[in-house]
Amino acid sequence: MGSGLNIPHYDSHQVELVWGLEPSEGMRRNVAGAPFEVRWLDLPGEEIPLENDSVDSVVLTYTLCTIPDWHRALEQIRRVLKPGGQLLFCEHGTAPDEAVRKWQDRVNPLWRKVAGGCNLNRDIPELIEHAGFAIQRMETGYLPKVPRFAGFNFWGAAVPR
Ligand SMILES: C[S@@+](CC[C@H](N)C(=O)[O-])C[C@H]1O[C@@H](n2cnc3c(N)ncnc32)[C@H](O)[C@@H]1O
Repeated sequence: MGSGLNIPHYDSHQVELVWGLEPSEGMRRNVAGAPFEVRWLDLPGEEIPLENDSVDSVVLTYTLCTIPDWHRALEQIRRVLKPGGQLLFCEHGTAPDEAVRKWQDRVNPLWRKVAGGCNLNRDIPELIEHAGFAIQRMETGYLPKVPRFAGFNFWGAAVPR
């Protein structure tokens, strides 16, 4: 959930409750004016403290780059999603251009240290599919005004296979 930057982009007519999964207390802000209820969730032992098949959709933005055990995180997302529920993702990662990819690989060890564990070169669709999801739709592209090595983006929706 981070600091709640996504909140204005939810359709408040369709959303009643958001479970805000955010392990860092310091990040929990900006939710007071949300037009729906936000309940914060911790992440004890990398386990999402919700029942199996209990949430309609999961929104995942700019987080897969950072989570050390990305496979476990995606497994947990799969466990809590209701059958037919969607994982909606917006993430940055490995670029399709070899020259950019070389830079991503070169810079990544230093970047990870200075950018709170963020990795530049994760293959986002590969991780999502490897964890048992089928990607239903996806768009990709370099973000404007962002250096190419940090700005290749993936937006899409996936469902459990
Ligand atoms: C770059 S921020 C993105 C925040 C938010 N999703 C957004 O788009 O504004 C990355 C977030 O991942 C969270 N995070 C770090 N490790 C995590 C983990 N193992 N599981 C879940 N979230 C984690 C951090 O606390 C941080 O809020």
